[in-house]
Amino acid sequence: MKSPPFAAIVLAAGKGTRMKSDLPKVMHRIAGRPLVQHVLAAVAPLAPRRTIVVLAPGMETVAATVPEATVAIQHEALGTGHATLAAVPALADASVADVLVLFGDTPLLTTETLQAMLAERRRTPAAAVVVLGMRPEGPTEYGRLVVADGMLEAIVEIKDATASQREIGLCNSGVMAIDAKLLPALLGALGTDNAKGEYYLTDIVAIARRQGLPCRIVEAPAEELVGINSRADLAAAEALMQRRLRAAAMAGGATLTAPETVFFSADTRIGRDVTIAPYVVCGPGVVIEDRAEILSFCHFTGARIGEGAIVGPYARLRPGAAIGADAHIGNFVEVKQATIGRGAKANHLSYIGDAEIGAGANIGAGTITCNYDGFTKEQTRIGAGAFIGSNTVLVAPVSVGAGAYIGAASTIVSDVPDDALSLSRAPQVDKPGRAAALRAKRSAAKAARKGGQG
Ligand code: UD1
Ligand code: MG
Repeated sequence: MKSPPFAAIVLAAGKGTRMKSDLPKVMHRIAGRPLVQHVLAAVAPLAPRRTIVVLAPGMETVAATVPEATVAIQHEALGTGHATLAAVPALADASVADVLVLFGDTPLLTTETLQAMLAERRRTPAAAVVVLGMRPEGPTEYGRLVVADGMLEAIVEIKDATASQREIGLCNSGVMAIDAKLLPALLGALGTDNAKGEYYLTDIVAIARRQGLPCRIVEAPAEELVGINSRADLAAAEALMQRRLRAAAMAGGATLTAPETVFFSADTRIGRDVTIAPYVVCGPGVVIEDRAEILSFCHFTGARIGEGAIVGPYARLRPGAAIGADAHIGNFVEVKQATIGRGAKANHLSYIGDAEIGAGANIGAGTITCNYDGFTKEQTRIGAGAFIGSNTVLVAPVSVGAGAYIGAASTIVSDVPDDALSLSRAPQVDKPGRAAALRAKRSAAKAARKGGQG
C-alpha cells in the first residue's frame, strides 16, 4: 500500500549563539556537508510531498544550499513553536496527512528512524503527536518527556522542570510527527508563559493531551540524535559520522587498515576490494573505484580514482582529477583538473594541472605543467605512451605527441610531434682537471688565512 503523503519542516532560523560564529549554525559542516543538508538527506528517501526550511531574514546562504526545499522566513526568533508556525502557510495547498518537524542541527538522524516515526503516527488510534525520544548519558540540557500509563503527557524544558522532572532519563530529541489536520490549531494554542518567554513547540503535547488526543514516543539511540549547539558538539558529531562512514565503506567491501585515521565525506563513494592505508582524507566529491589501492597520507577532493589504480603515499588530488584504471600516482604528486590515462604513471614529485595524459604515458620525477601565466589557465596534452624525462617543464598551452620522448630537464614550449625525441637544455661543458685545480687554490688560500691568525 502506498503511504499517504507527508511534509517535512526543518527548523533552522535559530541564531546558534553558542557556536560563536558569523556563519548560521546549520551551515557548519560535518563530513564535508552543511548540517541542514544532512537532515534533508535523511528525509529525502521517504519522498516528502513538500519540504519547508524555516530560516531567519538574511540567511540567503542557507537558502542557496537547499534548492530542493521551500523556504519560509521566521522574522523574529520567538521559539521553536513560532518557527513551525512560520512554515504553516507553505503547507496550505500540500494536502498531507502528517508533518514531520525536524531541527536543522541534528545531522545524524537516519531515514529508518523517520520512517518509524511516520508509522507510529498512523498506528491506530492515530496519534496527534509522536515525539522522538532518547536516553542520553550524563546530565544534559534536553527537554524531558513526561510519560504516564504509556502515554506521553508533556515535554518539559530543562529550565522549566521541577527537580523530579530533571531526573527523567527520557529526553526530547526535537523530532516530531504531527497530524497535519491538527497542527494549525495546536500551534495556535501555544503561549509564552515559560522560563525563556518563547513559543515552545514542545508544548503542543500537553495541549493535545488536554483535548484527549493520544501522544506517543518512538525511541532511538542518543548517538543518532545529538543536537549541535557548540563547536564541541560539532566535533563530537563529526566523530560519530566518521565512524558511520568507515563502517559503511568496510561493509561495502573496502579494507581500511586503521579505520580511525581515515576521514570521508558524506558523499564519498568507495568500490569493492579498495584498500586504504592509514591517514587518508577524502574531501567532498571523491569516488574510489573497485580494487584501487590508496597508500598513506593522501588528501583528495573532487577526484575520481579508477579501478586498480595505485595512489600515494603523499598524493594530493584536487577537483577535476580523474585517475584512469591501473594508473599510478606516487609520492608528492599533485593533480588538478587533469585526466590521467589508463596505466599512465606519475610516481614522484610532480604537478599536473589542466592536463590530459594519454594511456601508458610515463611522467618522470619532478615534471611540472606550467598551466598558469598569472592571467589564464592553459592546457597540456600528452599522447599515449609518451615518455617525459625527469624535471621537465611543460609550458602550456602545449602538446606532446603519442610515443614522443622528452629528454630530462627539458623546458617544452612548443608542440612535440608523435614519436619525436625532444630535448631543450643547455649543452654540457666539461673542463678536465679544473675541479682539482680549484680545490688546490682554495685550500692554499684557507691555510694562509689560518697561518696569519696564529
Ligand atoms: C530544543 C527543544 C528541546 C530538545 C532539544 C533537542 C524546544 C522548546 N526545545 O531545545 O526540548 O531537547 O531541542 O536538540 O523545542 N529554531 C528556530 N527558531 C527559533 C528557535 C529555534 O528556527 O525561534 C530552530 C533552531 O535553528 C534549531 C532548532 O530550532 O535548529 C532547535 O533550537 P535550539 O535553540 O537548538 O533548541 P534547544 O534549546 O536545543
Ligand atoms: Mg539545539
